[in-house]
Amino acid sequence: MKTYVTKSERQTIKLGKKLAKSFFAGLTIVLNGELGAGKTAITKGFAKGLGVRQAVTSPTFTIMNDYKGKKLPLYHFDMYRIEDSGEAYEFGLTEYFIKSKNTGIVPGVSVIEWAQNIADLIPKSNLITIDIKKLDGDLRQIEVEESL
Ligand SMILES: Nc1ncnc2c1ncn2[C@@H]1O[C@H](COP(=O)(O)OP(=O)(O)OP(=O)(O)O)[C@@H](O)[C@H]1O
Ligand SMILES: [Mg+2]
Repeated sequence: MKTYVTKSERQTIKLGKKLAKSFFAGLTIVLNGELGAGKTAITKGFAKGLGVRQAVTSPTFTIMNDYKGKKLPLYHFDMYRIEDSGEAYEFGLTEYFIKSKNTGIVPGVSVIEWAQNIADLIPKSNLITIDIKKLDGDLRQIEVEESL
């Protein structure tokens, strides 16, 4: 596990961009942390690193936003409003985790906020779990655990 501390949203975005260098198709990233921790902020960095030109916005109301990246597509999920994994399964969530092309989904990187609502659907491998903790002011402690 690696631990980072950032002092601003800008630094968190920069860290996300750096981490994205090692991302690959079929990777799932779970983002844990309270409201306003910086889950969407770090995803902005992932998008930069994957070569997404569009601005990343929170998928709170859409459940998922997808972005074409020069390197890989980014699928950004927010499960905050999803009550259980049955609902997420019906949305087709798990099809995004698969590398095969027969789903019609271009294999990419899935980033999931509020994944605890659908814990049983999260893959056990090709997974990076990131815990973001709010410290004093704009300080954030960011722990990155890889299960590849
Ligand atoms: N070091 C930091 N890293 C990231 N964001 C920071 C930092 N310091 C302050 N912030 C602020 O914290 C907020 C983080 O918001 P963000 O939408 O990324 O949170 P979130 O974890 O996605 O929340 P939600 O659960 O509501 O989706 C922003 O307003 C950002 O400017
Ligand atoms: Mg968010």
